Amino acid sequence: METTVRTKVKELLKMEPGQIVLAKGWVRTKRGNKGIAFIALNDGSTINNIQIVVDKTAFPEQMLAKITTGACIGVTGNLVASMGSGQAVEIQAQEIEIYGECDPMRYPIQKKDITMEYLRSVAHMRMRTNTFGAVLRIRNQMAFAIHEYFHSKGFVYLNTPLITASDCEGAGQMFQVTTLDLNDIPRNKKGEVDFSQDFFGKQTSLTVSGQLEGELGATALGEIYTFGPTFRAENSNTPRHLAEFWMVEPEMAFYDIKDNMNLAEDFIKSLVRYALDNCYDDIKFLNDKYDDSLIERLQGVIGTEFVRLPYTEGIRILEQAVAEGVKFEYPVAWGVDLQSEHERYLVEKHFRKPVILTDYPKDIKAFYMKQNEDGKTVRAMDVLFPKIGEIIGGSEREASLEKLEGRISELGMSRTNLEWYIDTRRFGSCPHSGFGLGFERLLLFVTGMSNIRDVIPFPRTPKNAEF
Ligand code: 4AD
Ligand code: MG
Repeated sequence: METTVRTKVKELLKMEPGQIVLAKGWVRTKRGNKGIAFIALNDGSTINNIQIVVDKTAFPEQMLAKITTGACIGVTGNLVASMGSGQAVEIQAQEIEIYGECDPMRYPIQKKDITMEYLRSVAHMRMRTNTFGAVLRIRNQMAFAIHEYFHSKGFVYLNTPLITASDCEGAGQMFQVTTLDLNDIPRNKKGEVDFSQDFFGKQTSLTVSGQLEGELGATALGEIYTFGPTFRAENSNTPRHLAEFWMVEPEMAFYDIKDNMNLAEDFIKSLVRYALDNCYDDIKFLNDKYDDSLIERLQGVIGTEFVRLPYTEGIRILEQAVAEGVKFEYPVAWGVDLQSEHERYLVEKHFRKPVILTDYPKDIKAFYMKQNEDGKTVRAMDVLFPKIGEIIGGSEREASLEKLEGRISELGMSRTNLEWYIDTRRFGSCPHSGFGLGFERLLLFVTGMSNIRDVIPFPRTPKNAEF
């Protein structure tokens, strides 16, 4: 028989019957009777499997026995219209090659209905499951959609450094980067660590945000976005926090907070629409398996106008709720940083749609945010989503040199590694705004997964850096 070129399953399922094809992939299941075996073959190109029909009399029994769940095979055969329900076409096997056997007794994801917790412990294999195949294909499509969205608007993709000497968010939750010998740390006369002997000649960390460098880009190129890994050493063991996550950070010259909110809302809606248009099979699978309101929720977000509400109003609503008997774990009062339970109350119970909360107290927000005239609040904007809470954090930036410097000294921040940033306000300062979208938080929303560890291939969380 003539060797055919391999065709991916996604393509095979769309092809007309009546041709010889070659499929390669991993066996999901094998079932059948004495005379015929049915193999469900998946190659990762789609959630759907191609069915292989094997006439058992045409193949050695020993060989067929090696085709177990997880084994990797190549099958050449005739693509024919399927008699069974569930698929339009199937392959009548003529030749089967086994690339890799898979011991059913030892294959870690052999069993059906294994828990997500267990799958995290075998994250090196979990990509072979339908669930993670679906999630990771959606992740891929969303990354592409983000680039396409900004590209179509003329934004410049700017690569900001991962190693940095400044703490953008001022929260001090940074992973240090050093080549010093930790068993023999050099010290200066005062007994402090002598970072001048370190690789960069100063203390450095992994970045918590590309924003500061992003602002340099925006005040030169106009509109930029970053999209890359971000690191936070916060000890939050929650279903919404990772120590290593990906963030998308657009930064735009001449945008005020309103322009910023408009962009954030349009951006998220386009991404969700893109997901429904381009990942429907995978989303449908996740909808049917885990969360049958997923598709409805996605469509809901596209079709609704986000609420825009000042923080102060938000607190009033929450205080009212408490007065009416709603119980929160954390107290509510003007000035507190909202917990996810508060955010979700506003979004899921009170408004029943996404909320953009603005004008937060300056004391709970970063130094770079534009100060309001009231002297108490800043022009911050957080986009709050159902099931997630905060999905985007952003603001209009303080463009006044004097006010920015005032805030830096008020907070007692060191200017040593910030002078370059302050230069944006010294030389041709301009009104500008930006925000950060947590990529995995977006994926939580789009996939309906309930734990952020399950929307990234290899999660990094406190005490966990396996694989
Ligand atoms: O609100 P954050 O801390 O804002 C910034 O870092 C700004 N510099 C962004 C900007 O204005 N350019 O983080 C932005 C978003 C959050 O809304 C959240 O979605 C996500 O990043 N995020 C995390 N995602 C996963 N794990 C964590 N530990 C996260 N911390 C923040
Ligand atoms: Mg935030």
